[in-house]
Amino acid sequence: MLSIKNVTKRFAGIVAVNDSSFDVNEGTICSLIGPNGAGKSTLFNCISRVYPIDEGEIYLKDNRIDKMPAHKIATLGVGRSFQLTRVLDELSVTENLALHTAAGFNWHLLKFAVTKEDQERAEQIMEFLGITHIRDLPMKELSYGQKKLLDLGSVLMSDPSFILLDEPAAGVNPRLLETILDRIIVLKNQGKTILLVEHNMELVMGISDKVIVMAAGSIIANGTPDEVQNNKQVLEVYLTG
Ligand SMILES: Nc1ncnc2c1ncn2[C@@H]1O[C@H](COP(=O)(O)OP(=O)(O)O)[C@@H](O)[C@H]1O
Ligand SMILES: [Mg+2]
Repeated sequence: MLSIKNVTKRFAGIVAVNDSSFDVNEGTICSLIGPNGAGKSTLFNCISRVYPIDEGEIYLKDNRIDKMPAHKIATLGVGRSFQLTRVLDELSVTENLALHTAAGFNWHLLKFAVTKEDQERAEQIMEFLGITHIRDLPMKELSYGQKKLLDLGSVLMSDPSFILLDEPAAGVNPRLLETILDRIIVLKNQGKTILLVEHNMELVMGISDKVIVMAAGSIIANGTPDEVQNNKQVLEVYLTG
């Protein structure tokens, strides 16, 4: 489904992603793991075209997407998480979700652009994530964990077939962690393809079909959770990193 071929991304003097290649198969959960600073988020941002890449190619099915504008990539069914911005603090959970399908930038205008379909979709998502009880709370009153759920919810608003999640469960309590992992499995069972970026190796082992390990910009391992967990180089990076 997604094919990363020899991708390199540099920032002034730093090679953040170095000649990296891997595939994500349709209908699977693939986790991209590695210590902080490994280049995971950079690669994630290259896929959704937040950054242009310096070398290599990225394909989604038969479409070469590394030269496509970000909004066009989204129309191919790619959904990614974005940190919610402060400007939406006064709006409710439902409104925040609904705005994710509306077009435009000015939130005063956006508020009027929310359609009945957006509203209904927001209701479905809140049900899916078990957050219907906070539907009318303004963003500024949410806990950190509730905001993480809302991050996930906003990715799902456009009903993407390929879902990119960058540390969707970072810093949440164990119970919420279970919920988030469980929801990701349900999404896979619905036929979605998921690329999960995470620095905690243990966290993704139970749910991943494939695990890619990055360290210092390069991919050092690629295999099943078992293969990766027993890989000497991976253990070294996690013990020393
Ligand atoms: N926008 C940027 N400008 C300059 N350097 C960056 C930028 N984004 C990331 N980097 C650098 O690229 C490297 C990889 O970072 P990142 O992709 O965020 O790692 P990870 O997500 O694995 O923790 C780091 O050295 C980081 O400082
Ligand atoms: Mg990161």
